[in-house]
Amino acid sequence: MCGIVGYIGDRSNVLNVLMDGLRRLEYRGYDSAGVAGIVNGEIDVYKEPGKVANLDQLVHIENDVVFQKVGIAHTRWATHGPPNQMNAHPHFDQDKEFCAVHNGIIENYATLKNQLQKKGHIFHTQTDSEVIPVLVKEFYDGDLFSAVTAALRQIVGTYGIALVSKHEPNKIIVARKGSPIVIGVGTDETVIASDVAAVVKHTNNVIYLDDGDVAEVSVDNIEIRNLDAVPVSRKVDKVDWDIASAEKGGFEHFMLKEIYEQPDSIKNAIRGRLNFEQGTAILSGLNMTPGELTEIERVIITACGTSMHAGMVAEYYFEDLAHILTDVDQAAEFRYRNPIVNNKCLVIPISQSGETADTLAALREAHMKGAKVSGLVNAVGSTIAREAGRGVYLHAGPEISVASTKAFTCQVTVLLMMALKFARSHRMPMPVGKTIANEIQKIPDYVQQVIERSGEIEKIAKKWCKCHDWFFIGRSYLYPTALEGALKLKEISYLHAEGYNAAELKHGPIALLTEDVPVVALANDIDGKDKVLSNMQECKARKAPLIATATEGDQEVADLTDDIIWIPKCHPLVSPVPTAVALQLLSYYVAKELGCSIDQPRNLAKSVTVE
Ligand code: G6P
Repeated sequence: MCGIVGYIGDRSNVLNVLMDGLRRLEYRGYDSAGVAGIVNGEIDVYKEPGKVANLDQLVHIENDVVFQKVGIAHTRWATHGPPNQMNAHPHFDQDKEFCAVHNGIIENYATLKNQLQKKGHIFHTQTDSEVIPVLVKEFYDGDLFSAVTAALRQIVGTYGIALVSKHEPNKIIVARKGSPIVIGVGTDETVIASDVAAVVKHTNNVIYLDDGDVAEVSVDNIEIRNLDAVPVSRKVDKVDWDIASAEKGGFEHFMLKEIYEQPDSIKNAIRGRLNFEQGTAILSGLNMTPGELTEIERVIITACGTSMHAGMVAEYYFEDLAHILTDVDQAAEFRYRNPIVNNKCLVIPISQSGETADTLAALREAHMKGAKVSGLVNAVGSTIAREAGRGVYLHAGPEISVASTKAFTCQVTVLLMMALKFARSHRMPMPVGKTIANEIQKIPDYVQQVIERSGEIEKIAKKWCKCHDWFFIGRSYLYPTALEGALKLKEISYLHAEGYNAAELKHGPIALLTEDVPVVALANDIDGKDKVLSNMQECKARKAPLIATATEGDQEVADLTDDIIWIPKCHPLVSPVPTAVALQLLSYYVAKELGCSIDQPRNLAKSVTVE
């Protein structure tokens, strides 16, 4: 899996369109890249391990490649077989008649490969994906579309594919099952991709394929059918962001750009969604009447990574504000542990990308068990957004950096609005609701104030970046925030960081504290701050350096710590948001100081579409 791009049209620079598309998908994380096109009636393939820049060197400097009319390209994130040149996509059959790129996993590839080998087909790679062009060759009988559908019918697993053939050089066949494919509809040209980021430079008109769709794309025609060749119709959607939003806009890294964007992205997430008169939130996507809301007896939030941490903050919100029993399930656990769920239960899958395999499977499990489901997703038109049936979009804009930042703060903000809406339809009095609505409205301003302290945070990062082990501690709403702070640091700086509830530190981890192990204590003015201060004393007694976030002007915390990051005075409920921003900046500057690959950290993928 990772990124797919394809082009068909009359441009003379097909290769440039493909390479540009691959660069726009780099943010997803990958380990090798490749392109294929048709040159003088034959398929030409170029692939390289490592970055797209290596492939660029191969096709432009070493080979001066020109593709005519049609081409496909891929960035691979290894699942089957190591990341080397051979295993990189595109893959082709032994006679190079058919050539494909694939995202997803073919679960029965070993059986298929075995059967095909017995029929005399030769394989060159260790990948599961190679069976696709070989199967198509096996079935080809003068009609590419039929051969592809026959091949796909054999496959157990997930796929997003793009395939070309020298026998029918005027078309690309694309198909999807469990891995996204979007078709960008231009004038006399079509760009296909696994992600709109690779398409918006060329057109804003897109078709999102559904699972089971197979499309035959030619220069001026797109025909979509299902695996039984029955025509299906898909509407053309408009992408409402342009290429500028997917570019760095003068920042050194996407991550920094996205951190700085947060006052705006949070404003977008809030816009039109607060009712100050009634002290509640308007979330029409939730599509539930107050009566239906009161029937909900339990909320289960399911997600992975950063999205799960946002869910953990929301567990406090739903229980504190709406008094609804709430649990957070890591999505992979939810799907396999046979959870107790019924129709009085609201399951909220949270996902920035809307494509995370485990979260998607959890959503399907929730549907199957009869729960009400409402998604919280950033990527419009993504699988989770569509399959949830109802839900709330973040409107955070595209998040390019692998480490999630603005999605987290928007998720927490929207979840607080959701909890407020539930609370007001349960027992929360209007004045309390009004206070909370007013505080939510101020979040962008609080975040802006933290961003203005970037310089101070950078100094702190420079001072401690040589330490190899870190702890992040907090309580209550700031406990999941501590987990997220530790996750950010390890993701991008490769330092060892652990997030703990401040109270838990003394039950084991404290054994690790020395003068080289900084503890980042989230000591903002919220319930339990006094206890956090005691925990900080315990750390200090073990000579651990203390860095704290604290409410502006809190001298008691300042006296205790080596370094302090001031967070504006705000309602405890909203404190996770500005505090998370401070921790994002701390991680960013540590990673920068250490010279790490911030936007594409090693071993990580932006969107994990495998289990
Ligand atoms: C990957 C990313 C994380 C992200 C997680 C969940 O692990 O590297 O940054 O938090 O997936 O992604 P989602 O798109 O579902 O929020």
